[in-house]
Amino acid sequence: MILPIYIYGHPVLRKIAKDIDPETYLNLQELIDNMYETMYNADGVGLAAPQIGLDDRIFVVDLKPLADDEHPEFKNFKKVFINADITEKTGETELVEEGCLSIPGIHEKVPREDRIRIKYLDENLQPHDEEYTGYMARVIQHEYDHLDGVMFVDRISPMRKRMIKSKLANMEKGKVSCSYRVRTV
Ligand code: NI
Repeated sequence: MILPIYIYGHPVLRKIAKDIDPETYLNLQELIDNMYETMYNADGVGLAAPQIGLDDRIFVVDLKPLADDEHPEFKNFKKVFINADITEKTGETELVEEGCLSIPGIHEKVPREDRIRIKYLDENLQPHDEEYTGYMARVIQHEYDHLDGVMFVDRISPMRKRMIKSKLANMEKGKVSCSYRVRTV
């Protein structure tokens, strides 16, 4: 089922999400299916639970649309991250453009570390402890930020933030146009 995507300004996007208890969580697989369907419908490569109004620590990523000759590994990068914990951020800080389904129409360069280590449960509740680099590390950090109530525009330069201030103010007032169903404040 395609769910509405919550837009910048909605308070749920600023909440600290809680770990889920996979043993008692109802319809976890259905939630995961809905998150993927909602993400694909909006042409996204990542979606975190707060973006569909839930303060649960879960996000999904599928980098397949970005796979090319330079990055064939993206083709099979479809993952669910449950109760994730980024335990290390290292490497160079790189400045790369990002967007977000909760902030439609805005793309800005965001500084992020190039290498991370993350512990998480997958959709079968199997534990993992893995390292990621480059764009994979970036997308994971972006989605992980959502669980802590952080959005990518919080990390851009003050000058760029001023440039997009009025657009963000409009979103906070519920003025937004995009191709998918949304929920504003
Ligand atoms: Ni986002």
